[in-house]
Amino acid sequence: MKIIIASDHAGYDLKEKIISHFKDNFEFENYGPFSADSVDYPDFAHPVAEDVSSGKHEYGILICGTGNGIGMTANKHAGIRAALCWKPEIAALARQHNNANILVLPARFITEEDAFDVVKTFFSTHFEGGRHQRRVEKIDIH
Ligand code: RB5
Repeated sequence: MKIIIASDHAGYDLKEKIISHFKDNFEFENYGPFSADSVDYPDFAHPVAEDVSSGKHEYGILICGTGNGIGMTANKHAGIRAALCWKPEIAALARQHNNANILVLPARFITEEDAFDVVKTFFSTHFEGGRHQRRVEKIDIH
């Protein structure tokens, strides 16, 4: 599975750890940043959200300090369902019920171990469809 991933400076360390931890499980394309220097999270959220929204890539991961700024930015894009997850149970439901296509992590409020569990769960859980399909179709404003 190919996953595109980006962060801001607050999420930089966790991004690098995730890429390294899952290097044998997923193919990552790193959209930056490439150092922990201070950056603005929208500059890194938009390219990932654009490439998932356009269908170029199916899934992304975005990480900032709280997960809120980077997730809010991604969710401005049509077809993006970016889910802020801090426990595996939330990650599972974000896939099962919301068909989330971008996993958002709050680097400053999650342990490394929980973050790895969240990533593993998110990318091994499938959308349930059915009644959830109807609800997901109502999210976007046409
Ligand atoms: C950066 O200090 C911090 O504001 C950012 O990572 C994020 O938490 C914003 O929502």
